[in-house]
Amino acid sequence: MGLGCGSPTAVASLKKGEVVLDLGSGAGIDVFIAAGKVGPKGKVIGVDMTKEMVGRAKRLAKANGYRNVEFRLGEIEKLPVDDGSVDTIISNCVINLSTDKDKVFREALRVLKPGGRLTISDIVSEKPVPAALKDDLDAWSSCIAGALVKRDYLGRMADAGFGKVDIVAERDFYVETVGDRKQHRFFSMTVTAHKSRTRRTAHAS
Ligand SMILES: C[S@@+](CC[C@H](N)C(=O)[O-])C[C@H]1O[C@@H](n2cnc3c(N)ncnc32)[C@H](O)[C@@H]1O
Repeated sequence: MGLGCGSPTAVASLKKGEVVLDLGSGAGIDVFIAAGKVGPKGKVIGVDMTKEMVGRAKRLAKANGYRNVEFRLGEIEKLPVDDGSVDTIISNCVINLSTDKDKVFREALRVLKPGGRLTISDIVSEKPVPAALKDDLDAWSSCIAGALVKRDYLGRMADAGFGKVDIVAERDFYVETVGDRKQHRFFSMTVTAHKSRTRRTAHAS
């Protein structure tokens, strides 16, 4: 059900009536938590690129009577979401899997309303990930092969146009396939960021 590495919904300060977007919603755990927080006048949209996960999330929503949620099939690099239509974006352990993280951040900025917020939990690395790990499918499915160095990750968010980029939680993330964790440390971090109220939206190319 949940394949995340943090609790973005716990720190996103979601309010009643807000429109929330979950990038890489999987089976929907964070969408369902957010749905309770925004209430019946709000809405939570989950986007995931696999039919299987979208199908599973839709079945869970129906079985549990969630009426303020919607799951869309799509890629976070090309979001099936209108410009400036979302109050808050959340994401849990997904952006590390993207091969074009700059595009993901630009797309996130595009769909947020002016003044909108982003809260993401994701895996980052202490040092650049070695080439051997980048070719290891187990390492990809363990969410470490595509991990960026923390400073690079935060810098790309700022370059995309996000302001007030802050780490609000951080802990060690140990994955067995890494072998000796002393050789390579990963972290799970939760980051908040904002879209300016005045700045023009950057569009993904
Ligand atoms: C580690 S799981 C996390 C799922 C969910 N956020 C959770 O916490 O349970 C990663 C999810 O991201 C989806 N995903 C990976 N890359 C994606 C992309 N580029 N666009 C959309 N979804 C993606 C996968 O299909 C998978 O459901």
